[in-house]
Amino acid sequence: MALWAVRSAQAQDVPPVARQFLRCHEEEEARHLKQFELLLGTSSQGKTALPRMPSQWKILAVQLYGYETLGLEFARLLVGLRPDLASILEDEEGHVGFFEQEVRHILIQDGPAAKGARQAAKAWRRRLPRTVDRYLSDVSLAPFREGLRQHILDVIDERFLAVGLLTRLESGKRDGQGFGF
Ligand SMILES: [Fe+2]
Repeated sequence: MALWAVRSAQAQDVPPVARQFLRCHEEEEARHLKQFELLLGTSSQGKTALPRMPSQWKILAVQLYGYETLGLEFARLLVGLRPDLASILEDEEGHVGFFEQEVRHILIQDGPAAKGARQAAKAWRRRLPRTVDRYLSDVSLAPFREGLRQHILDVIDERFLAVGLLTRLESGKRDGQGFGF
């Protein structure tokens, strides 16, 4: 789900264990992309520019965790329609699990790294509604768009709250509404 971000992340300053994980992660995301392309009859081979990713691990780990939680929700939707693609869901659960552990490790240090990670989560969460809208922009999703959008935002808020990246006040859950972006 996040092939280009994962590829770009490997050029950053990441701990050895994460570098090793990102290599396998990239292979899995590349395989998923091929499966999607076969399914949809499209090709993304023209894409060459990699997205700019943060160089600091405390910020990069939070962003990858965020994008993987988002990818996991889309994988759940996909497998609901295509149970034969369950291996994608298993891979995505593995990716989320790895970055969640890394984020916990950063937060447990409780110093500037933890503070930086929480700030990164707040900024990422603020941009999330627009990202989700972009992913749900296909006309075929129109009848489900509002429900899916809220569901995805709620699930990610719950994860970020549970892991300690956001407080309830900072998530979109404070009054049952999103940020309104
Ligand atoms: Fe993934």
